[in-house]
Amino acid sequence: METPRMVVVESVEEVAQRAADYVEALLERKPDAVLVLPTGRTPVALYREMKRRYAAGRIDFSRARTFNLDEWVGVAPDEPGSYAGFMTEHLYSRVNLRPENCLIPDGLAADLEAECRRYEDRIRQVGGVDLAVLGIGQNGHIGFNEPGTSFEARTHVTAVDLSTQLANAYAFDGRPVPSRAITMGIGTILEARDILLLVTGPEKSEILLRALTGPVGEDVPASILRRHPSVTVVADYTAASRLAARPD
Ligand code: F6R
Repeated sequence: METPRMVVVESVEEVAQRAADYVEALLERKPDAVLVLPTGRTPVALYREMKRRYAAGRIDFSRARTFNLDEWVGVAPDEPGSYAGFMTEHLYSRVNLRPENCLIPDGLAADLEAECRRYEDRIRQVGGVDLAVLGIGQNGHIGFNEPGTSFEARTHVTAVDLSTQLANAYAFDGRPVPSRAITMGIGTILEARDILLLVTGPEKSEILLRALTGPVGEDVPASILRRHPSVTVVADYTAASRLAARPD
């Protein structure tokens, strides 16, 4: 099978619908499926669509398990910028996921290294990940695996690039953006059975082109997705514009 599969659609809403189709089909087939979920601007429309389908009785999350990709170090769930807070606002409070089935790395843990190991253990205990839904940073990161991160990395504490801090400043209400986060490692992400990469907006077109057509290397973390047997990229046409413009 050729990977990644490319799905290019007209709008952010359509990206969300296509992605929700994958989640819906998976949970129909496997009601206790294990999902990896991202935060940020990209998945907001997907979570809105998941809420809509739940409300319409189309998706049941009661047995699903979710693991988030990352969390800032030192940010409490009720503080601006928290990914736990983001997930509660956009998804947990809107569908019938059980709180005990929704995991996010604890960026307030006294022993962050132990927290990373615990996270890996939990993923192993549930039998691994069925579907990892990812976004991509403008520097090519997936999760907070910044350029230069080993493709073998497991869940770890990472230094967040300045460009990533700036890209996330909008969520912090003027407070400083933390320079550290816990992220699921690329090695962990690559063990997911299926991967869905969501890409929207013209500001992602350059990095999407590099990730999909440039050399596979640690300077563009998302490029490694080309070595995974089952990746689907769902992009709106603005994000895919440079790919489409490439001569055959
Ligand atoms: C967030 C995450 C990041 C984002 C990426 C894109 O949990 O894992 O890799 O997916 O930074 O962010 P947005 O969607 O805000 O452009």
